[in-house]
Amino acid sequence: MSTLRKLQLGTDGPVVSAQGFGAMGISVAYGDTDLTEARATLEHAFELGVTLFDTADAYGFGDNERFLAPFFAAHRDELVIATKFGLRRLEDGTLDIRNDPDYVRTSADASLQRLGVDEIDLYYMHRRDPEVPLEDMVGAMAELVAAGKVKHLGLSEVTGDELAAAHAIHPIAAVQSEWSLFSRDIENQVVPTAARLGIAMVPYSPLGRGLLTGVNQVDPNAANDVRNTMARFQGANGEANQALLEPLRKIAAVRNTTVAQVALAWVHQRTAVWQTSVVPIPGTRSRTRVEENLKALDLTLDDSELAVLEPIAAEVTGARWHDPSFISSGRE
Ligand SMILES: NC(=O)c1ccc[n+]([C@@H]2O[C@H](COP(=O)([O-])OP(=O)(O)OC[C@H]3O[C@@H](n4cnc5c(N)ncnc54)[C@H](OP(=O)(O)O)[C@@H]3O)[C@@H](O)[C@H]2O)c1
Repeated sequence: MSTLRKLQLGTDGPVVSAQGFGAMGISVAYGDTDLTEARATLEHAFELGVTLFDTADAYGFGDNERFLAPFFAAHRDELVIATKFGLRRLEDGTLDIRNDPDYVRTSADASLQRLGVDEIDLYYMHRRDPEVPLEDMVGAMAELVAAGKVKHLGLSEVTGDELAAAHAIHPIAAVQSEWSLFSRDIENQVVPTAARLGIAMVPYSPLGRGLLTGVNQVDPNAANDVRNTMARFQGANGEANQALLEPLRKIAAVRNTTVAQVALAWVHQRTAVWQTSVVPIPGTRSRTRVEENLKALDLTLDDSELAVLEPIAAEVTGARWHDPSFISSGRE
């Protein structure tokens, strides 16, 4: 196993590779998956030094956790396993958010069973239901820590205020939210709050769900590719957003890197900007791409390159989520 740069999640959380691995796409969201290559990709990520692996009970109705179980069993002591509760797809295809304490408890037990482990290293609330008092939900999560079922707590897509209130109830090691050159709304409240409290940021979709790679990978006829329903990928929006990659292409050409590496390097450099750990979790089902993405850790963009990239987010067209109440900026 190689060694990558490491960062700590929160003041007493786990120390992990500065780039993690997002496993969602293996089971859901981005079209068909070659499971043999996906399994090899997990192993390759581990060989290259990745220690933080991200899943959720919602990814494929538990399929993603079940798929990861043998990989986790093979490397249990060397990995940090992160999973989530609180967001699920109902029979009719709609998404439902649950934060009530009973649901927290039963979801954790079900994830432990599917993952085949005694303890979840990092357990996130996936989405916030403001109808359930924060004390009740975080209280139930804290009971899981006391019971030895969970080591550290995380929250996904919370507002700055929700984060500060939750952290006062029980230490929060990490916040997971969408953060990339195309999605910077969390810099208004969430990131400053996390930085002030010493909480790590774990950016999801750091490659903009593939947009920030410059590689067109969406089959417009694929019903199992969620990007066919996302505003950023549609028609004129999609074309306008592709055009925003021009500065990344230029930097990539000069630096002899790829567009994806430039996009990820920008995210990695948020650690220095905000003085708190920033550990993106790009997702891929390909060994060559995981290798490519990890090389972003060797790329440091200079001030003039960063200045060129600065205006891009403001020019992106199309919301990052169809229902604003599902994401932090919709509740701020
Ligand atoms: N908390 C939440 O609500 C939430 C929401 C979304 C995601 N997440 C987590 O965050 C992780 C990452 O986010 P994401 O998967 O949505 O988006 P992402 O990492 O921004 O992008 C993934 C997409 O980019 C492609 N890709 C990856 N590396 C590439 C490269 N070097 N060149 C070209 N294409 C490349 C992947 O295709 P291939 O797989 O075919 O390589 C996939 O289609 C997920 O796996 C999940 O664990 C959390």
